Amino acid sequence: MANKKIKSDEAAIDVLLKEKKIYPPAKSFSRLAYVKSFAELKNLRKKALSSPEKFWESAAKELFWHKPWRKTLAWKPPFSQWFVGGKINASYNALDRHLSGFRRHKAALIWEGENGEKRVLTYLELYREVCRAANALKKLGIKAGDRVAIYMPMVPEAVIAMLACSRIGAPHNVVFAGFSASALSERIQDAQVKLVITADGFFRKGLIVKPKDVVDEALKSAPSVEKVLVLNRGIVENSSWVEGRDVDWVDALSEASDDCPAEKLDSEHPLFILYTSGSTGKPKGILHTTGGYLVQAAWTTKYVFDLKDDDLFWCTADIGWVTGHSYVVYGPLLNGATVFMYEGSPMHPAPDRFWSMIERHKISILYTAPTAIRAFMRLGESWPQKHDLSSLRLLGSVGEPINPEAWRWYHKNIGREKCPIVDTWWQTETGSIMISPLPGATGTKPGSASLPLPGIDAEVVDRSGNPVPLGAGGYLVIKKPWPGMLRTIYGNPARYKEQYFSQALALGKKNYPYYFTGDGARKDKDGYFWVLGRIDDVLNVSGHRLSTMEIESALVSHPAVAEAAVVGRPDDLTGQAVSAFVTLKEGQNPDESLKREISEYVGRAISPIAKPADIRFTPLLPKTRSGKIMRRLLREIASGGAVKGDVTTLEDLGALEKLQSQEEE
Ligand code: WT7
Repeated sequence: MANKKIKSDEAAIDVLLKEKKIYPPAKSFSRLAYVKSFAELKNLRKKALSSPEKFWESAAKELFWHKPWRKTLAWKPPFSQWFVGGKINASYNALDRHLSGFRRHKAALIWEGENGEKRVLTYLELYREVCRAANALKKLGIKAGDRVAIYMPMVPEAVIAMLACSRIGAPHNVVFAGFSASALSERIQDAQVKLVITADGFFRKGLIVKPKDVVDEALKSAPSVEKVLVLNRGIVENSSWVEGRDVDWVDALSEASDDCPAEKLDSEHPLFILYTSGSTGKPKGILHTTGGYLVQAAWTTKYVFDLKDDDLFWCTADIGWVTGHSYVVYGPLLNGATVFMYEGSPMHPAPDRFWSMIERHKISILYTAPTAIRAFMRLGESWPQKHDLSSLRLLGSVGEPINPEAWRWYHKNIGREKCPIVDTWWQTETGSIMISPLPGATGTKPGSASLPLPGIDAEVVDRSGNPVPLGAGGYLVIKKPWPGMLRTIYGNPARYKEQYFSQALALGKKNYPYYFTGDGARKDKDGYFWVLGRIDDVLNVSGHRLSTMEIESALVSHPAVAEAAVVGRPDDLTGQAVSAFVTLKEGQNPDESLKREISEYVGRAISPIAKPADIRFTPLLPKTRSGKIMRRLLREIASGGAVKGDVTTLEDLGALEKLQSQEEE
């Protein structure tokens, strides 16, 4: 099936590959960049490929180690350990290290609330707050190894909470504040979380959202949680309070000392667990450890964004996603950068909110997602034109392939044809950026993430693990371990092995060491990678990963639904959209109001992002003789295309006919 998916994507990639224009790095940019030419990059890549361990060792030396490592890499496929024997602390490297020099009073965080509220925290101030929060956590019984869930809006305290956890070695489990109570509860239970950090409320599109209420609901089915630390911003009246369980953030921190020495942790000590959707109904707890993750996060932030001390760096991702972990928090702070952070919606109070903030704060690096760019594109050039965006010097893109049209719009209207664009390919599992241009060195082609970074050995292979000819579609794999790679799926090493390494193992090669990304890709004649998207049953909606099975199981838990199948279809705005085929139980009325109800139901069960964009009622689902739902067929119907392919394997041809006629109505 994966092969067929690749084939059906070939038409799309052919269009992309017609995109011949190369945008060379501007001389004025290259002159001041860390890596100044393609020749220099080529050399770096060549050296790193012949000895990746040496390359990563030199990157690791840029961080502070309480104790040096003995062994750079211990690789027992598919399990890796990096900088073995070394002692390191993430929070120390993000904060303490900057306090002895000129960065002490430099802004670490510049924050803007949706309602216009503003806050600035210097490195010294952020350090003090993190120490206080770390001491507060200790007082609440949190020790190294205990899991802490963070269900917080985009406020400085979310960053403080993460760094407080890493300071004492308590792995954080950040859950996006848009997730429902049941999704939160599932993640809390799987990680056996002891304490939850949340807030009374936050602003989104001018309305108040109340995460604390969601936590209260989630904890009804999550008995491992002992305490809830609540940031009361005073924006929710009569916020609920559970005596004995809930602790006020401000009270707890004001009683705590601002001196909290960072724990000297093993390089392989777990730094965080972050849940992401897989191809089954159950989200995977991606486990990242300390040393290797930090090394790659720091290196990629510095070189991919060519980050300098006088930059104001804005990654628009929420801390609930890995992009927020690596490029709002760890990567930039490890580099002593100033991070810009925004609480709310890009469209509030008007669609020029981003451009207004860039102008007012003089933001110099913007890292955002193609879906956001497409949304701005739809609204027209007049919104960015109202603002002086000349402070920008570099643009980034992440989360899904960026279509050339959006790339060019971004380049022209936001970058004013002056800013290089770095299209960065990576995943929750990879920890940091893997394939990307370096802005002073790589000529860019709209739609391509270009070349693997130094130290990353990526390839496009066929089912047997052999490289495919240039230009042909195949599976994107990573051939050698890299420092920021996930170490396992929390509590489930068998699933880790199965998910990422068994596709090759199943071919009879024992301990086959390639990491399967789950993405399809092509390499062009210049070796540039063109990532096509997922080849498994994972959807990418607005850069957010969703599992078709997870949505299907939410659908069938609705009392009116008998059976359901979910597929993705292309969408101009969100990249992919959720398309659901639903068979109702006997006696249910297949009308519009039921569609709406089912859609809302999925939104409540998982997250509003998971709501189907369209629902089709069908008396039967097309299945193969062995009972497998014919997803390819459904994908074609959902995309509005004519149904091609062999339909004789259908168990019930009538089901297909009915779907088609519904389509024609
Ligand atoms: C999947 C990972 C990496 C942080 C955000 C998403 C897709 C991501 C690109 C890109 C083409 C991309 C892939 C990948 N993806 N960046 N630049 N070009 N595709 O993290 O939720 O773990 O999703 O996003 O399909 O596998 P994630």
